[in-house]
Amino acid sequence: MGANSAQTIGARSQQLSHSQTAGTRVEAASANERDMCGPGRGYTSKMSPRRPITEASESNADTDTGLLNTTTQTTSMTASILADVEMAPRDPILGVTEAFNADPNPDKVNLGVGIYYDDNGKIPLLECVRRAERELLETSPPRGYLPIDGLPEYDRAVQALVFGADSPAIKDQRAVTVQALGGTGGLKIGADFLRRADPGAQVWISQPSWENHRALFENAGFAVNTYPYYDARTHGLDLDGLVHALESVPAHSVIVLHACCHNPTGVDLSAEQWQQVIDVVKRRDLVPFLDMAYQGFADGLDADAGIVRRFVGAGMPLFVSNSFSKSFSLYGERVGALSVVAQSSEETARTLSQLKRVVRTNYSNPPTHGGKIVATVLASPDLKRIWEQELGEMRSRIRSMRSQLVEKVQLRVPGFDLGFVIRQRGMFSYSGLSKDAVARLREEFSVYAIDSGRICIAALNSRNIDYVADAISRVTR
Ligand code: LMR
Repeated sequence: MGANSAQTIGARSQQLSHSQTAGTRVEAASANERDMCGPGRGYTSKMSPRRPITEASESNADTDTGLLNTTTQTTSMTASILADVEMAPRDPILGVTEAFNADPNPDKVNLGVGIYYDDNGKIPLLECVRRAERELLETSPPRGYLPIDGLPEYDRAVQALVFGADSPAIKDQRAVTVQALGGTGGLKIGADFLRRADPGAQVWISQPSWENHRALFENAGFAVNTYPYYDARTHGLDLDGLVHALESVPAHSVIVLHACCHNPTGVDLSAEQWQQVIDVVKRRDLVPFLDMAYQGFADGLDADAGIVRRFVGAGMPLFVSNSFSKSFSLYGERVGALSVVAQSSEETARTLSQLKRVVRTNYSNPPTHGGKIVATVLASPDLKRIWEQELGEMRSRIRSMRSQLVEKVQLRVPGFDLGFVIRQRGMFSYSGLSKDAVARLREEFSVYAIDSGRICIAALNSRNIDYVADAISRVTR
């Protein structure tokens, strides 16, 4: 989807008009009247003439009294700004959930969206969250507005988690964090900020990348390009392609990188490969924007954030969006953040002032509940320990599902090598299933995946894994 197409939702502007005069049908306004609507409402003389799209109601009988309502309300609505709005395609990820929800098949399985389900097929309410909510309920805090940049204790806790509590960026007050509406919200605040800070910059995302990255940055006004990332032949990384692309993109380009658990491929860089990327990003004055929606799902909280810390150590401006949707199983609370590392505390203060403008003009300030839960857990050593344990359990259950799926499919289709699925990290597997195979999975088995072949391993469980393995083996034979 191009930037322009994303911004065009209707081909023409037309005028909306109501009349509540009894029994009167509104006639098309004269050209003069149309002109008088004025530019302030976006109506100009270029408008199409108004077309009535509903007729006056002749009978509005009161059935109880048998009386005819003498003030019959007549609404004559002219064709409006909405008349030519095009139907947008379904979202490639959340649209799959819409189709899944509408499917009556009791055996249906949703491997589309990135959500962790437990072995009973339920989205877990973590014990650390349950306890934090109990504490919050007891204190019954009032619900005033949060500061524009969010709950201060939440922002501090995010910084410690993302950068490490003893990070030089925190000590030198070079890091700034704003609470955001999930990881997507963090990306959007960063995108809007960057577009204002450097309107000429281009954005580069991996090929492939999370389905929403392109649209999100395009909607912020950027030209979005891709750098090579996934090598379909090896089911691994195209390191040469990646580094070569970074060597050739224009200086100051914004490079969107997945800190861990690459979405959709599950293919991450090794420490040495990251070093090559860091070196070229720094040397070429590129702007790294790390998307970290899955901290804790690869090797653990600190290990997964290791790359963020190495970028900080390399000394360059850095943008990091992070999310607690998955790691706290708080999807609907929309808890995430954007953190920025600047060169000095003075630069940080100016940056924060602009980030606050972005937030204020989008949604004013963030909601309280999710941020308080996360801040409460992270402030309590006991709750934090419980969280880390629960996160570890999610991580190992996903790993076990990976190896079981590979084993079960290979048993059914001998010679079909799915070994790469075990090496992938995080919630997803870029399964290699073709678009046709994905369509057959959906139509013949009610097993829902993303068209790209991405499947959410975290949605498999001991009850549905045989059914899914059967379905995959049927469509790949
Ligand atoms: C996903 O990739 O499935 C998740 O990040 C959910 C989303 O918002 O797309």
